[in-house]
Amino acid sequence: MVLSARLQAFIEGYDARRKLVVVTAYDSWQARLVELAGADLILVGDSLGMVEQGRDSTAGVTLDQMVYHTRMTARGRHSIPIVADLPLHSYDDPVTALESSKLLMAAGADAVKFEGNPPGIADAILAAGIPVMGHLGLLPQTAADYKVRGKDLAEAAQIALDAQALTDAGCFSLVLECVPLSLGRDITSAIKIATIGIGAGPETSGQVLVFHDLLHLIEGRKAKFVPDAYTKVGTVIRDTLGAWAADVRKGTYPSDSESYH
Ligand code: KIV
Repeated sequence: MVLSARLQAFIEGYDARRKLVVVTAYDSWQARLVELAGADLILVGDSLGMVEQGRDSTAGVTLDQMVYHTRMTARGRHSIPIVADLPLHSYDDPVTALESSKLLMAAGADAVKFEGNPPGIADAILAAGIPVMGHLGLLPQTAADYKVRGKDLAEAAQIALDAQALTDAGCFSLVLECVPLSLGRDITSAIKIATIGIGAGPETSGQVLVFHDLLHLIEGRKAKFVPDAYTKVGTVIRDTLGAWAADVRKGTYPSDSESYH
């Protein structure tokens, strides 16, 4: 497996037990901001179906759209790795999974991510030298609801088994979405790759949030694990647009200094 120097640096961060910071981005300006803020990795998540396309779920996102957004995101980053999501049906079988992964890598990704542990998928992608991030717990592409996963013993045991299997297959990292703190902690101490939590408690190797959620860009979209403490950027944008609209209506914009002579 040939890891990019960017991805190698991310893995070294895990080896040094530094907390890893991952944020989603879907285009060049978001990537630029995420990198300037000091994140360790950008995820071009298929969450873009919800936060960019206004869909109710990620299920309708296509491979073409993921390639397009990965390409835009890659233009905005300089030195941190990009993981691109394989959307639903782009990894229905090992051959399709490999072809889809190659397209995302050609668009600028350093690795790909898929949900769950479908038979043969990780092996097929990894055998071609393409690094893979796993994703367990809540699997939004196929989920009927967005409740916590792994609360009962059998489901928790299955998630832990899948985590070990993906590690053994050679994945470099694993997203754990919406699982109890205790399961996030136990998997993190059991496996030897970085766990990146979202709603998985504080004891994973790192954390990921969706760009739009962290910045409160979309009114009414608020999960339990989204912090309330930071600037509500959505409100700042709305107020700025509103102030400009008021100035246009009052006739105070454009002023003389904003006009050509
Ligand atoms: O699509 C996405 O943004 C994700 C994160 C929520 C982990 O998979």
